[in-house]
Amino acid sequence: MSGLISLTLRIWRQRSPESPGAYASYRLERVSADLSLLEALDLLNEQLISAGERPVGFEHDCREGICGSCGFLVNGQAHGPQAATTVCQLYLRRFNDGDTLVLAPWQAKAFPPIQDLVVDRSALDRLIEAGGFCSVNTGNAPDANAILVGRDQAASAFETATCIGCGACVASCRNASASLFVAAKLAHLAQLPQGQPERAARAEAMQQQMGREGFGSCSSQLECEAVCPKQISADWISWMHGERRRAAGSGG
Ligand code: SF4
Ligand code: FES
Repeated sequence: MSGLISLTLRIWRQRSPESPGAYASYRLERVSADLSLLEALDLLNEQLISAGERPVGFEHDCREGICGSCGFLVNGQAHGPQAATTVCQLYLRRFNDGDTLVLAPWQAKAFPPIQDLVVDRSALDRLIEAGGFCSVNTGNAPDANAILVGRDQAASAFETATCIGCGACVASCRNASASLFVAAKLAHLAQLPQGQPERAARAEAMQQQMGREGFGSCSSQLECEAVCPKQISADWISWMHGERRRAAGSGG
């Protein structure tokens, strides 16, 4: 369905990490329902700049659901009401004419505010630095199929590798836990031959880093799975706990 739609946007405005924040209301009158929510914010920002006001800060890059940089709460839901969708792929036609949308930044101790809808998600980068990589020298690219990986194994590893690091799982968790993110990163590498040499050390280091960054523990509320734009299963969190036991058993 296409057409025109009018909306009220109530947006969290906060000039800097130190300044107090407050909601401000803006009207979008008869704009195309085929705009994405980020395009609607672009439009709003053009209006604000023309009026000499500060534009709304929000993060974005690919606008195709693959980079993970966008992301905020829409009416209290991470990435909004549409399942398996990043906020850049959420279109105004998903809403009704006259709706009010409340836009707020991720709220978690480990994600301090920067400005408006932008928070500092570098804690996720530090989790990756703690071990979410392979440092094994693999030499030149091998011939195709030289390293045998079964189809189901490859598909399962790919499923977890689709995590885009958006942080929605953290933002929707009442404990602000990064468990789904870390579980996805661990599972993606642990299911492939290249991930085996550092498997135990990686599981230990990344889970320890979660605590240091101020992320909470998992209490199986499953909100993370519900909001994950890549539909990564929370079953991987149980699997991750097994990885830590396995790491302890291997001495490393
Ligand atoms: S697990 Fe899902 S919600 Fe969490 S960072 Fe990855 S893609 Fe985003
Ligand atoms: S801008 Fe890249 S996932 Fe939304």
